[in-house]
Amino acid sequence: MGIVKQSLIRMGRVKIMSAIIVMGTQWGDEGKGKIVDYLAEEADVVARYQGGNNAGHTVVVAGKEFKLHLLPSGILYKGKTCVIGNGVVIDPGVLLKEIKGMQEKGFETVGLKISNRAHVIMPYHRLLDEVQEKYRGEHKIGTTKRGIGPCYMDKNSRNGIRIVDLMDTEEFSEKLKRNLEANNHLLKAVYGVDGFDYETVKAEYLGYAEELRCYVADTSAALNQAIKQGKKVLFEGAQATMLDLDHGTYPYVTSSNPIAGSVGPGAGIGPTKISNVIGVVKAYTTRVGEGPFPTELFDEMGDHIRKVGHEYGTTTGRPRRCGWLDACVVRYAVDLSGIDYMAITRLDILDAVKTLKLCVAYKYKGEVINEFPASLKVLAEVEPVYEELPGWESDTTGIRTYADLPLNARLYLERLSEVAGTKLGIVSVGPGRDQTIIMAEMYK
Ligand code: GDP
Ligand code: IMO
Ligand code: MG
Repeated sequence: MGIVKQSLIRMGRVKIMSAIIVMGTQWGDEGKGKIVDYLAEEADVVARYQGGNNAGHTVVVAGKEFKLHLLPSGILYKGKTCVIGNGVVIDPGVLLKEIKGMQEKGFETVGLKISNRAHVIMPYHRLLDEVQEKYRGEHKIGTTKRGIGPCYMDKNSRNGIRIVDLMDTEEFSEKLKRNLEANNHLLKAVYGVDGFDYETVKAEYLGYAEELRCYVADTSAALNQAIKQGKKVLFEGAQATMLDLDHGTYPYVTSSNPIAGSVGPGAGIGPTKISNVIGVVKAYTTRVGEGPFPTELFDEMGDHIRKVGHEYGTTTGRPRRCGWLDACVVRYAVDLSGIDYMAITRLDILDAVKTLKLCVAYKYKGEVINEFPASLKVLAEVEPVYEELPGWESDTTGIRTYADLPLNARLYLERLSEVAGTKLGIVSVGPGRDQTIIMAEMYK
């Protein structure tokens, strides 16, 4: 039995629960896919609970890179149940392409279950995302233009089309007619662009419906049954805390709640079923899209991180903004999600850095502030309080135990743990499955 399985079972036995959440603590792209893939080896079910194909999770298996947008990272193993929960917004054309892509590469998708309650991204959502961004001008969010925001808008305004509707030709035809009429009018009257033809969209989407029908299920029922049977469930967060609609840097956020508590509404399981929350923390900070970023670097160090770390978006290819590790952000994420273990990723990207800076507090108008600012004006003006720590200036990519990490690397991680107020659980020193250090603490 693998160490991970032992850890999951031990966690399960201690707290008599069996579901673990893996979520992002910063602005996304922390390496959630890699950590989920690592833990999924010994899990039975891997489930997404929010977001859509704005996510880009890269997993490297035996040197081969897989980019996943909607499929849970468990798809890379045989025999796992992979759930796309009701809280996810699904672009059916994109999902089918991803399914076919995986099948062509020899992976099986028989274990995939798509929630009948998930909302469907329509062509007018994608177009609205694009024209609304244009309309925002200098206040643009920098969205992925995948139609995520407009689809969640329709969900919340109760106009949305769900997977269950898509599976019912009559229901879908009627809902599409109403929605298309309204959205075509909005697109033309407000944004001056042409909308979509009813028959064309109907035929396209009813085609998707037939191809997806075999995967559609009541995923909340399936997850609850799995938990009752003592199976191990991993929840894979998309995006991250600072992109959370309620708690992130609003309005420069996504339209869902990536924090751990969102598993309840997004997957349909109760909070008492969650045993642990693992927060994924990149060893430095990146952000793609607009909005304040207190520890952003505009100098050679930022360029160095971007170059060494190949920091370009998985979904849009945009260069990611890079900066020092902000422990204030991580501490905020720890509180919001009740994170009990951190999984630190990309430590190796800092291997050549001589002196590191860790942001341990924010000062506003000369005073240290204790709460994470809600006001973006304040956040844009805070002055990071840095602690300088010596780098380790050596290659960590081949290290497999915590004790073997250079002393300065351990001091950096331990100081982060202290400031963030939670434990280290996993340290990742490369994209490969084997380049992962699991801490003794995780399976005590
Ligand atoms: P996600 O969206 O949180 O899943 O993260 P992304 O996949 O968008 O970006 C993380 C990138 O870092 C991916 O290309 C991973 O393969 C890679 N990665 C993950 N962990 C490590 C690590 O410890 N070291 C290095 N060098 N790369 C890593
Ligand atoms: P993963 O799961 C990084 C960002 C976009 C933009 C904002 C809103 O790979 O970590 P949206 O299209 O969601 O309306 O865009 O959110 N964003 C991400 N940034 N990683 C992601 O996902 C992201 N998903 C959305 O860049 O700033
Ligand atoms: Mg990503």
